[in-house]
Amino acid sequence: MYGPDRSAADEVEWTAFRRAEKKYKLYYDKDSRNSKKFDKPIPLRKKQPKKVDLSEVLDFKEILESYSKSSELHPEVVPLQCGFDRPVFCLKTRPGFYFIPGALSVEEQCKWIRESLTSFPQPPNRTNHNARYGPIHDLFISAKDQKVLVVEDNSLAQLDSESDACRNGDAKTWKFYEQHTAALGDKSCKSISASKLLRKLRWSTLGLQFDWSKRNYDVSLPHNKIPDSLSQLAKGMATPAMPPGEEFKPEAAIVNYFGLGDTLGGHLDDMEADWSKPIVSMSLGCKAIFLLGGKSREDEPFAMFLRSGDIVLMAGEARECFHGVPRIFTDKENAEIMPLEVHFSREIDFLEYIRSSRININIRQVF
Ligand code: SIN
Repeated sequence: MYGPDRSAADEVEWTAFRRAEKKYKLYYDKDSRNSKKFDKPIPLRKKQPKKVDLSEVLDFKEILESYSKSSELHPEVVPLQCGFDRPVFCLKTRPGFYFIPGALSVEEQCKWIRESLTSFPQPPNRTNHNARYGPIHDLFISAKDQKVLVVEDNSLAQLDSESDACRNGDAKTWKFYEQHTAALGDKSCKSISASKLLRKLRWSTLGLQFDWSKRNYDVSLPHNKIPDSLSQLAKGMATPAMPPGEEFKPEAAIVNYFGLGDTLGGHLDDMEADWSKPIVSMSLGCKAIFLLGGKSREDEPFAMFLRSGDIVLMAGEARECFHGVPRIFTDKENAEIMPLEVHFSREIDFLEYIRSSRININIRQVF
């Protein structure tokens, strides 16, 4: 059997978008979970992902290959003839959506993975950890050094006065300590390892800072400009979707980090002033399924694979289309990250991270 267990009554209630999310989401086979029902312990077995039917997922890598060989195309797909320096595909029924397969070289992918893990989550850029821990500096390097984030306490502060302190809204201060130093401190003190925090990193924001609670940009928050090299890349990649004669102005970016089982629910990106400008969205790391719906959640979404190095542009009408990521693949066969593994073979911390992760950087013109 494919897909999740479900009753017919449940399914009737779901929108077409929700049905597709459920279809592709990671579920595990029941009999591969450890059962407590039996008196005798049964041998531990690795949980097995439930099989999912991927036959309807658009595969732009295959589409590009067959188009290059024989000019044959999937009936929904049209090539964009715009003089861009690499192939771009569109969908007949989703104007404003552009897919640039394999847009980034492996070197470029590695560069943006490094940046996403080291410089992008640095203050003043905010991350999902800000609300609880305040601004955190050097998360990736602290995870590498097996440090521990500990809530500020006087005895610990004396042990290591060189650590960077961070303050959250409750005026609690959190600081990274060497593991052995943290172990000497007050045992009742709250602490969390940097590697756990790295695994729990879900987003960081660059340029103008997005306020998730208000679903808007808070221009009063301190911020740095989008790094120049990212800005140049986005300007170039945005060209196929730009109104003629206009230049894309990258003002904000959201970096999404996905681990095994993480999903991004169906949503609209509609907080920017001018929808004629695209969102430039790049995929890094493990392969994912992207759902592109219509203006209503009732519209049947297209499912498509997103591989490391693919770029998607959403402009115009496509800005009004629900979209999301119901699945990332971290198994060897499906993740398709061999070139990244080769490239990172001497950078073990990046290698380990990316083997079970996907990163998405989406860049926006806000005004
Ligand atoms: C988004 O829609 O915000 C991100 C999509 C992706 O992860 O590819």
